[in-house]
Amino acid sequence: MELTQEIIDRIEKLQKKYEVTGQDLTAYLDGLLYADYISYWNYIHLDTLLSLQNPRTSFPDEQVFIMYHQITELYFKLALHEIEQLANKEDLNSEFFVRRVMRINRYFDALTHSFEIMYKGMERDQFIKFRMSLIPASGFQSAQYRMIEICSTDFINLVDKEKRHQFTNESPFDEMFKNLYWKQGATEEETGKKTLTLSQFERKYTDQLTRLAEEYKVKNLWQCYKKLTPEEQEDSKVKNVLRQLDVNVNINWPLMHLKSAITYLKRKTSEEKATGGTNWQKYLPPKFQERIFYPALWSDEEKAHWGREWVESVMNE
Ligand code: HEM
Repeated sequence: MELTQEIIDRIEKLQKKYEVTGQDLTAYLDGLLYADYISYWNYIHLDTLLSLQNPRTSFPDEQVFIMYHQITELYFKLALHEIEQLANKEDLNSEFFVRRVMRINRYFDALTHSFEIMYKGMERDQFIKFRMSLIPASGFQSAQYRMIEICSTDFINLVDKEKRHQFTNESPFDEMFKNLYWKQGATEEETGKKTLTLSQFERKYTDQLTRLAEEYKVKNLWQCYKKLTPEEQEDSKVKNVLRQLDVNVNINWPLMHLKSAITYLKRKTSEEKATGGTNWQKYLPPKFQERIFYPALWSDEEKAHWGREWVESVMNE
């Protein structure tokens, strides 16, 4: 094959690239010569990926349960990947902001629409049995879910709504952390004590999540929005993607999730206990949690009806 000018140009560029760091181009060319072709299965680590499903029982539907959780965690990781790029972007403008937040919305749409894989896609009889071997593990312990919350809004918006008035956004993070809305959800119905699910989660993640909250104080998605120019902040496209994110993360996904809890845990006479031991019927509905990332973007009436219509339609189905 002829050594065209194009190839010579490339080699010269490579030579310059390696010269800067005092490296030898010939050695790198040898590396190229001996390296194997990359394959699909190596690139995406397929064998590793497919080896990560390890059920604790022999009920076939436990595989559905495990894999759907894994799929969800990957989407959560994608959402965090977009947030990180937004948070660290220099010269942030509304175009980049809208494009990235729309990506996060797409991930949550995909999760919301696929949730019927959970609430329709498993035999209840199998679920009721295999879940007993999973106690006290619960999706409640998803650290990425908490990270998405922390990186999306000012921390004070995650403080339990009954206690929020005791704090400002300048209050110490560890104090606010003790009063996050989800801690209130994870108390044992009968004793009022922290559930084991919560205390194990705290032991593993409190330090990491508190550090993240401190880091994102100045660069969470709301703070990114505040960095846009006043005109950009007023742009309806910008406001709408944030409002949609609020609805996706705090109403639509939680409702589909709640629907699964109702399908499998609600019985005609009594409720099945959740694996995390919470009073889930009082805790999970969005209208009770009233978790809102961007209160300034909603009217008082919209906030007062947060998640209500949707919840009623789901609960009454
Ligand atoms: C049949 C399917 C499911 C049922 C019956 C179910 C049930 C529950 C229940 C009862 C809770 C309250 C905490 C507890 O006591 O355990 C909970 C919390 C939670 N679950 Fe699930 N879950 C299901 C699927 C999933 C999936 C696929 C995910 C994805 C990661 C997930 C993530 C979560 C999260 C993040 C929480 C905490 C929610 C919050 O604090 O508002 N769950 N789940």
